[in-house]
Amino acid sequence: MIKYIPEGQEKLEHIIQTDGIMEQILSFHANPFGFLVMHGDPGSGKTFAGRAICNEIHHMSKEIVDQCSFAKRVNDCSDGFDKYKYYALYDYCKDLEKVELLMVDALGFVKPPEPIIEYLYYIFDKRWENKDRLGTIITTHLNKKDFSSMFGAPTTSRTHSNFDVPFLGYDRRRLKREQEYMITQFKF
Ligand SMILES: Nc1ncnc2c1ncn2[C@@H]1O[C@H](COP(=O)(O)OP(=O)(O)OP(=O)(O)O)[C@@H](O)[C@H]1O
Ligand SMILES: [Mg+2]
Repeated sequence: MIKYIPEGQEKLEHIIQTDGIMEQILSFHANPFGFLVMHGDPGSGKTFAGRAICNEIHHMSKEIVDQCSFAKRVNDCSDGFDKYKYYALYDYCKDLEKVELLMVDALGFVKPPEPIIEYLYYIFDKRWENKDRLGTIITTHLNKKDFSSMFGAPTTSRTHSNFDVPFLGYDRRRLKREQEYMITQFKF
């Protein structure tokens, strides 16, 4: 039975993954610098795990922890794409350089426009150069090869330089739906 955990209350102890995967997540949490890439099928718990890490890094203030859905930003800006929306996306990307702990959620779900892909390279390069004091969490459904096809080998070489964690398991979103259905049907 999956317990419902409201957004913002995810904790490391709630994450259900193998010991090998937990070891890498806990290792990044203990020393949240450099890159943690979590990739895997939809609903496997990547965003949940990223939020749990952000929620449990207590020594960082909320202002320096940014969680963003990159897919949503790109989608908002691509809808009737014009130069002002493009500037908005560009400005937004610029801010991502400085955040102490950054979670870029759902990267690659929507392919960003080419200039933003180039700009992402500069952001990740900057963050890689400062990996001793900046931490970056990326969640994506793309494996390393597909990530490299979309974002290029130089970007991938930086983002995948520390932890590259494959998320295993079933689609928890579907499981939740099935559970809810069972509860309404059979009133467990
Ligand atoms: N360990 C867990 N305990 C309880 N609920 C969980 C757990 N892991 C994930 N969930 C829930 O399952 C659903 C899917 O998880 P999540 O959004 O993290 O998947 P994802 O891998 O990021 O999927 P996508 O690739 O589609 O973005 C969410 O509603 C989330 O809250
Ligand atoms: Mg997600």
